Amino acid sequence: MKKMGIFLAFLFLGLMIETFAIAHETAEDNYKMYCFQCHGSRGNGTGINAPFLTVAPRDHTNTTEMKKLTDESMFTAIKEGGVAVSKSSFMPPWKSILTDDEIKDMVKHLHKLCKC
Ligand code: HEC
Repeated sequence: MKKMGIFLAFLFLGLMIETFAIAHETAEDNYKMYCFQCHGSRGNGTGINAPFLTVAPRDHTNTTEMKKLTDESMFTAIKEGGVAVSKSSFMPPWKSILTDDEIKDMVKHLHKLCKC
């Protein structure tokens, strides 16, 4: 019985760590999963698809350019796609994949990438 208690304690601890880890990696994971192919592994706009697009993906590490964007416009661009902010339709809408909260986290992640 004692062993069972210890087992359950570890199981609980494991679940807690997992939840914590997921909560902290989401935006970065999502960026790797959905944004790398165009915006690049370092976010500098040099993804594997970039050479095939007639409009260059935004360089998310360009502090000067990124400073010009408000959080709202970034949120809309990610949620509704480039067209919603009068930009290129090559920037796809992500509303069917990312929740509003995940998009908000993503905007924070972009602030980290541009250091702005
Ligand atoms: C199929 C290629 C592609 C993918 C995938 C993609 N983007 Fe983009 N993104 C673009 C292009 C192209 C632009 C530039 C649009 C322009 O300047 O007209 C852009 C622009 C942006 C902008 C700036 C919009 C602005 O107002 O200048 C943000 C923010 C952005 N992308 C975020 C993301 C995020 C976050 C993801 C992943 C969830 C993502 N993008 C995935 C192609 C892509």
